[in-house]
Amino acid sequence: MTVVNGYEQSDAEKKLNILNLPSLADEAKKIIPTGGYGYIVGGSEDEWTLAENTKAFNHAQIVPKALSNIDSPDLSTNFLGIDLKTPIMMAPTAAQGLAHSQGEKDTARGGVAAVGGLMAQSTYSSTSIADTAAAGNGAPQLFQLYMSKDWDFNKSLLDEAKKAGVKGIILTVDATVDGYREEDIINNFQFPIPMPNLEKYSAGDGKGKGIGEIYASAAQKISEDDVRRIAEYTDLPVIVKGVQSPEDALRAIGAGAAAIYVSNHGGRQLNGGPASFDVLPAIAKAVNKRVPIIFDSGVRRGSHAFKALAAGADLVAFGRPVIYGLALGGAEGVQSVFEQIDHELEIIMQLAGTKTIADVKHAPLTHFNYAD
Ligand code: FNR
Ligand code: LAC
Repeated sequence: MTVVNGYEQSDAEKKLNILNLPSLADEAKKIIPTGGYGYIVGGSEDEWTLAENTKAFNHAQIVPKALSNIDSPDLSTNFLGIDLKTPIMMAPTAAQGLAHSQGEKDTARGGVAAVGGLMAQSTYSSTSIADTAAAGNGAPQLFQLYMSKDWDFNKSLLDEAKKAGVKGIILTVDATVDGYREEDIINNFQFPIPMPNLEKYSAGDGKGKGIGEIYASAAQKISEDDVRRIAEYTDLPVIVKGVQSPEDALRAIGAGAAAIYVSNHGGRQLNGGPASFDVLPAIAKAVNKRVPIIFDSGVRRGSHAFKALAAGADLVAFGRPVIYGLALGGAEGVQSVFEQIDHELEIIMQLAGTKTIADVKHAPLTHFNYAD
């Protein structure tokens, strides 16, 4: 255990025997301090959207396919020219030092380098962009930008990200203010650990600040012009994260987005919105394969990942389960989480008669109903 400003960080480094991803939350709750756990597990308001995110995967069913004459499903795929061993990626999540003393460095080591997936590091990471990139030992990473009101600060982050060799910029657009997080209010949660990228934000290094104070220094007004400006400035693909409607998807593509990231922030932002999985088919239809799609929010099973791929996603991202794996086992814990997801996905692919991820993306789903 490492203690930072009175906050106890896990130092665990071990493989995990995982029954399923949902069970990790209760295990992690035993070792992550109350405030940090509340911040991670929490959603906004009464957490209706948070709950719907996972339930929504019951709204569509996978068509079994016997006599398919396949074995050994192949999970490899490609995203924006990046070869990946799995379509499973790690969503950008802030302040991973709340879960483990190594934070994003262990996530990069275990979740990306070890399993051949893609990782996204957050603006509000607890380790520097360069340190996280270096820990990934050359494995592909994206940098997720929270736009500051200060364009010079944005450029300093983008310069650092590009120098660190990131393959693309995620622009998060669904968090221009923070959702109403009751867990954080109950716990009077303030970040106990520094988040180095915030040095130039008016929030200072973030330590001792609540998420609301940190967001106060972020840009509340984001438009298509910002997508264009980031793409022009970095000459990197820009992925617009937090899209929940066909209209927003088309606006983002019109502004030059290289990919769309369908997400409702894991139910942490606009509560009362639909489950992310329920809006995926209409968005995929509107996008019509013009750009690839990343999907997240509520994914907890291999069958969920399969359904998201079959409903139009090209990559499927996990947030909270990865953080729990980090707390429980560090880099090896994160690797265990990704290996579990891949294992479950392989079983579903075999039983659905789909040999490759391309086959999965053409697999039929039945009974897509939006009401429970
Ligand atoms: C997040 N998320 C997030 N998103 C983002 O664009 N930048 C960020 O810094 C963060 N930070 C963050 C912290 C924590 C603790 C959580 C749980 C989530 C949202 C994240 O990228 C993703 O959209 C959700 O986590 C996906 O939902 P699940 O898998 O956690 O249910
Ligand atoms: C959150 C922000 C940091 O969800 O994205 O907490």
